[in-house]
Amino acid sequence: MRLGPLTVGTPVMLSPMAGVTNWPFRVLCEEYGPDGLYVAEMITARALVARNPKALRLCRFAPSEHPRSLQLYGVNPAIVEQAARIVVDESMADHVDLNFGCPVPKVTRRGGGSALPWKTDLLEEIIHRVVRVCEPAGIPVTAKFRVGIDHDHETFLESGRIAQGEGCAAVTLHARTTAEYYGGHSDWTRIGELVEHLDIPVFGNGDIWGADDAVAMVNETGCAGVAIGRGCQGRPWIFADIRNAFEGSDARVRPTLGEVGAVVMRHARLLVEFFDGDERMAVHDLRKHIAWYLKGFPVGGSVRAAFMGCESLAEVQAIIDGLDQRAQLPERIVDKPRGRVRFAKKVHLPYGWLESRRTTHAEREQLFGDDPMDAEY
Ligand SMILES: Cc1cc2nc3c(=O)[nH]c(=O)nc-3n(C[C@H](O)[C@H](O)[C@H](O)COP(=O)(O)O)c2cc1C
Repeated sequence: MRLGPLTVGTPVMLSPMAGVTNWPFRVLCEEYGPDGLYVAEMITARALVARNPKALRLCRFAPSEHPRSLQLYGVNPAIVEQAARIVVDESMADHVDLNFGCPVPKVTRRGGGSALPWKTDLLEEIIHRVVRVCEPAGIPVTAKFRVGIDHDHETFLESGRIAQGEGCAAVTLHARTTAEYYGGHSDWTRIGELVEHLDIPVFGNGDIWGADDAVAMVNETGCAGVAIGRGCQGRPWIFADIRNAFEGSDARVRPTLGEVGAVVMRHARLLVEFFDGDERMAVHDLRKHIAWYLKGFPVGGSVRAAFMGCESLAEVQAIIDGLDQRAQLPERIVDKPRGRVRFAKKVHLPYGWLESRRTTHAEREQLFGDDPMDAEY
């Protein structure tokens, strides 16, 4: 797949996930599937512009990573443009993705993430400004969005058209609405509709739990590539499986518990580097990954709880050493759903948001003053 000047050998994307897709995890994914697109977690434009140390840490890449792929989030077009300018001027990335898909209330109630495409003027302006900054530097821009706010307020075809018209190199559709959050099923027919509607490549996203799902999505929708979120949590080897499947091979990575333990330790060591040698922070970050790595393996509750109490690499290693190294994942668990799965309780939007498709002057003043530093998933 071509993304502007970049070539993505296997049309698979690690979908950005806040708190998950930092460089240690991306490096593991990339080792299994060396020619995919591995996107960093969303960076709040305002935090990058303010040079917030936490945001800057999230912008780091390992030397092996190419292309280096960053995702920006923001509501105020001028701030997102400034963030893009920093990315370009400081050669921080080779690809920029824009987040218009976050369903978290803290974000949507300020008009951001998946609430934003409803305001077509804002969507257009953000993409326009970012492409204008990135394109001359040879940095392709892509946009990621959902089907809409709910089924009475669908926006994806229009968002795709705007993204294409403003110069995006590709788009990603997570085929759920904001209201659907992570519940139910991603409706792949909507991905097919978007593919029909656009000339630029579409990455289909939602509910790919194994390589066969990836192939099925491409066959059913005609999408040019697939984006993997929860399906790779605790399973970076899914990228090897997908690469094999796209090449027509049945080979799949099915690690024993001992082999998974080795991946956990490698992940842990990379996280220590990520946290500048702070082992405690690394092990705390690792905890959620351990829960995912162990999902489905015959490991008792007390052992899992012991992992959650670890404070050092030595403690993690000691528990791993005590596991049944030859245990296999039961076949019925392989390639099954994982991670969050719930519907939204309610969609939170700025007051009067749905009344018009364009922002008023007053709305802009209110929104831009409120553009958060600390958007999160
Ligand atoms: C923990 C978590 C964090 C996420 N963070 C981001 C993010 O930073 N940016 C983004 O565009 N999407 C984010 N997403 C959405 C995923 O990229 C993806 O679109 C979604 O999970 C659907 O794909 P899946 O069914 O393969 O998980 C996040 C999802 C999860 C579960």
